[in-house]
Amino acid sequence: MEFSVLAGQPEQYGGACVIAGVFEDQKLTAAAAALDKASQGTIGKLIESGALSGKTGKLLPLFKPAGLDCGLVLLVGLGARDKFDALALRKATSAAVKAVASHGIKEALNTLTLGDEGGLDLYWRLRHGAEAASDASYSFRECKSKNGDDKPLETLKFSLPAGADEGAAKEALRHAKAIASGVSFAKDLGNRPANLCTPTHLAEQAQELAKRHPKIKITVVDEAEMEKLGMGALLAVSRGSHQPAKLIVMEYQGGGNGDKPYALVGKGVTFDAGGISLKPPASMDEMKWDMGGAASVFGALQTVAELDLPVNVVGVTPCTENLPGGNAVKPGDIVTTMSGQTVEILNTDAEGRLCLCDALCYTERFEPQTVIDIATLTGACVIALGSHAAGLFSNDEEMVADLLKASTETTDRAWRMPLWDDYQEQLQSNFADFANVGGREAGSITAACYLSRFTGNFRWAHLDIAGVAWKTGKEKGGTGRPVTLLSQYLIERANNQS
Ligand code: BES
Ligand code: MN
Ligand code: ZN
Repeated sequence: MEFSVLAGQPEQYGGACVIAGVFEDQKLTAAAAALDKASQGTIGKLIESGALSGKTGKLLPLFKPAGLDCGLVLLVGLGARDKFDALALRKATSAAVKAVASHGIKEALNTLTLGDEGGLDLYWRLRHGAEAASDASYSFRECKSKNGDDKPLETLKFSLPAGADEGAAKEALRHAKAIASGVSFAKDLGNRPANLCTPTHLAEQAQELAKRHPKIKITVVDEAEMEKLGMGALLAVSRGSHQPAKLIVMEYQGGGNGDKPYALVGKGVTFDAGGISLKPPASMDEMKWDMGGAASVFGALQTVAELDLPVNVVGVTPCTENLPGGNAVKPGDIVTTMSGQTVEILNTDAEGRLCLCDALCYTERFEPQTVIDIATLTGACVIALGSHAAGLFSNDEEMVADLLKASTETTDRAWRMPLWDDYQEQLQSNFADFANVGGREAGSITAACYLSRFTGNFRWAHLDIAGVAWKTGKEKGGTGRPVTLLSQYLIERANNQS
């Protein structure tokens, strides 16, 4: 989808469709009021008759409205005016864009950029509008034998208010476009079934990414090399599978030679059957998304490269399957991690932390400024936070503040969870340095506690994205989260240094 800005009055627009907002209690936005005036009160009368509730995302199409040149005015509810915020803007935009596309319309003017409700400035109105539009237009058709009949919107124009800062507007659309591209890349990788999206496939995708972006350099660590590095935990997970594990390293150099990189470490379990601690069959197919952390690292790197951000970023993704088999690791087995610490594997389904601990240890060689790991790590995090927020754990207050700021601004939500030492004792083992599981209580926290034993040498944050990486039900599919959050964090780091 192409985005552009359009100055001038929406009521003079002669294209196919104008999208305009209406708040609850029949309050027209300024743009809807201008359209109403030009159409001699048609819109106002309809609203007064109760044709549109004004609830967020509710729609009312008006075809060939009298007094206007456009073919369709699509009114969209924005909810209560005093509660209007970025999420409402995104929800309304998404509903409107889907409806416009369903009418087979190729081009529309979006006036939801006008106004100042919710304290959102022009930059953020454009960012949210363009990101939500792109998100709503995504579909995954790779594995369908026939082309679908969905015809996505080709061009979305955004109304600029009089005297607008055009520089900020262009910048917003440039950012949104690059983020949308990263999000879409992450969705594609996650939606691709596990028989196609193997660790080897992800390594190939990394090479393709580097071909598209010369500032990215790829190194793929294979199992022989992992052996030499002493990655006993990652190799233990991979043992039950016939697909070889790959540790994929993506170095983006947008900053100076001496600039320490920001590291992103993503769990890349391309299918998690649980291993010998086999999962129950219901919904096991969803474990193809257990590489969502890795996918978000791929996506964020693509965004950063498209934006040509003047920072260095290194992505490290340990990629493997977790399957049962005659050679698989067994409950009670003890392995030595790259750090030298030994782990008693009491549950082979707690494999994410085993992959990540060796990847985190490997990441030390880049002397990173900060390290963020991203993982679909625990079902317990889904119980705690549902599908709205990622769990955020960190040993660094500044990182917490920076990540929460990025998360609030983008609506790619994260919520801080505790990492108190009190929880550490749940990992106690009589046979190894510690165990890989800590019992039923506080499962997402003990998982983070496990990781914390490998991150003492750097500033670190952990995002448990088990609840947010994909949706189930009618809209089943990858979300591309938290590419937006990670990208915003890095955009901010680049802004702050220049
Ligand atoms: N990939 C799963 C976590 C998961 C479960 C993500 C459901 C999304 C939805 C992870 O590898 C796992 O199996 N974790 C176990 C840990 C337990 C054995 C301590 C879990 O959450 O049950
Ligand atoms: Mn598991
Ligand atoms: Zn897993």
